[in-house]
Amino acid sequence: MNVIIAESYDELSKIAANIIAGQIKEKPDSVLGLATGSSPVGIYKELIAKYNAGELDFSKVQSVNLDEYVGLAPEHEQSYRYFMNVNLFDHVNIDKSNTRVPDGLAADTDAFCKAYDEYIDSIGGIDLQVLGIGPDGHIGFNEPDDHFTAGTHVAVLEESTVDANARFFESRNDVPKTAITMGMKGIMTAKKIVLVANGANKKDVLFKAINGDVTPRIPASLLQLHRDVTIIFSEK
Ligand code: GLP
Repeated sequence: MNVIIAESYDELSKIAANIIAGQIKEKPDSVLGLATGSSPVGIYKELIAKYNAGELDFSKVQSVNLDEYVGLAPEHEQSYRYFMNVNLFDHVNIDKSNTRVPDGLAADTDAFCKAYDEYIDSIGGIDLQVLGIGPDGHIGFNEPDDHFTAGTHVAVLEESTVDANARFFESRNDVPKTAITMGMKGIMTAKKIVLVANGANKKDVLFKAINGDVTPRIPASLLQLHRDVTIIFSEK
């Protein structure tokens, strides 16, 4: 694991965006695994700036997102599809038909999850996966559990996750209690992983994920077994 301590959130975002930009330049048809949450917003701003400066071309890029709340339509302002459109896709020349976010309205979630994994396999797997980390050590919405779940699945959100994400909704009651998330296989088979975390409240869980036991109780700890992970942390 390559652990970088950045001086500020701006620096963290620039470092991560440079890694992603390098990936796209090296392989213009890269498959990017993308994440939501507040942590990657700065990365997406940097990527948009690079695109506007003529440094990046997203026309061949494909993307698959980690997760989506069950029950939220793509147009819902707190849906992760909406987040991706507003924070990145609407501002660069990515072909939206090459972007996938799990379907929070899928009628048959089991069939959807299976098809999502098959789709990821069919496009050759993920070249670079962007991750944040939840306060309980979750990645995507892979919550602490007795076991790791390999495939895309429906996760029941921990109370602490609902609490953490309530800031984005009008009230805590509006936060969906379940979500579709890529499983650990989709994440761990990505060729390269960049995890960003900022804020003092992420320090302890990140320390456990990096230095503690590999355990499904801290899902991010599984990243210790991956060959190419860069973790960028900024306390501010
Ligand atoms: C949500 C997302 C995660 C994200 C986490 C942390 O739970 N499903 O993918 O990493 O929030 O979010 P933030 O970066 O806002 O702290």
